[in-house]
Amino acid sequence: MDKDKKRRNLAKAAWFASVACSLALCVEDAFAADLKLGETIATKGTTNGAAACVSCHGLQGEGNAAAGFPRLAGLSSAYLSAQMAAFSTGERQSPTMQPFAKLLSLTERTAVAAYFSKMAVPAGIRTSDDTSITPAEPGPWLATRGRWDQGLPACVQCHGPGGIGVSPTFPPLAGQPANYISNQLQGWKKGARPPGPLALMPVIASKLTDADISAVAAYYAAPASGDAKRTGDMK
Ligand code: HEC
Ligand code: HEC
Repeated sequence: MDKDKKRRNLAKAAWFASVACSLALCVEDAFAADLKLGETIATKGTTNGAAACVSCHGLQGEGNAAAGFPRLAGLSSAYLSAQMAAFSTGERQSPTMQPFAKLLSLTERTAVAAYFSKMAVPAGIRTSDDTSITPAEPGPWLATRGRWDQGLPACVQCHGPGGIGVSPTFPPLAGQPANYISNQLQGWKKGARPPGPLALMPVIASKLTDADISAVAAYYAAPASGDAKRTGDMK
């Protein structure tokens, strides 16, 4: 892709994300998944050796900040399924997740994705952006303003206010562990994660320095500040 085309794609996707919800396109992808099967896999694992997902991702799917295990609760089932498919083929590299994803059939992956997508968004996470942000604060500034002279849109333009996520394509950043967010951005730089829709994230990650990555990851990992209200589920 040439540079202009990449830039146009970024702008297009940012526009799409900002209008998708208002056009009521934020619908849950409607395929029948076996939630009971999903619950069994999540809480007990599978007979062929996949560990119970909640042992790492938390009983409420909230993740584990200290260990860097991402939250799964309230992410779209389409996104979760696509990530597990990518782990199972090795396109998305993770020594921890690849073996589990390989042990699950497509039906099991679909069921467990649906199960976590229906879980409530954890309380206390960021759902809106801080109101007084200055260029001296690189994390919040990148998150809410971007760096348009480099063709870098603000994270909010695709990931929604406070990084709440815009379903089904743009996963939430709010409430993800800082080291998890950093690893994903570094993963795109290294090619350890597939490019995803329109190859948007590799372009964005390539424009972020290590310092930018730490700052923006810390912003989204931080709990909601006093003035931020919970607006509820982005499923
Ligand atoms: C031993 C701990 C562990 C267990 C058990 C585990 N995971 Fe994970 N999971 C991880 C880690 C670590 C990552 C982050 C991998 C990376 O950095 O890309 C992850 C990432 C994921 C992601 C990607 C999330 C995102 O936002 O892109 C999905 C989906 C996922 N796991 C689903 C599952 C499911 C379903 C199960 C149960 C079958 C499961 N995991 C069991 C540790 C675990
Ligand atoms: C033009 C749209 C767009 C913009 C702007 C954008 N993203 Fe993304 N982002 C995406 C898409 C699409 C995905 C899903 C990728 C996939 O499916 O593999 C994603 C996924 C992610 C993920 C992975 C989340 C997870 O659960 O694993 C992280 C981390 C991320 N983006 C961080 C950022 C940061 C930080 C910014 C701002 C500097 C940003 N993004 C700006 C489109 C965008």
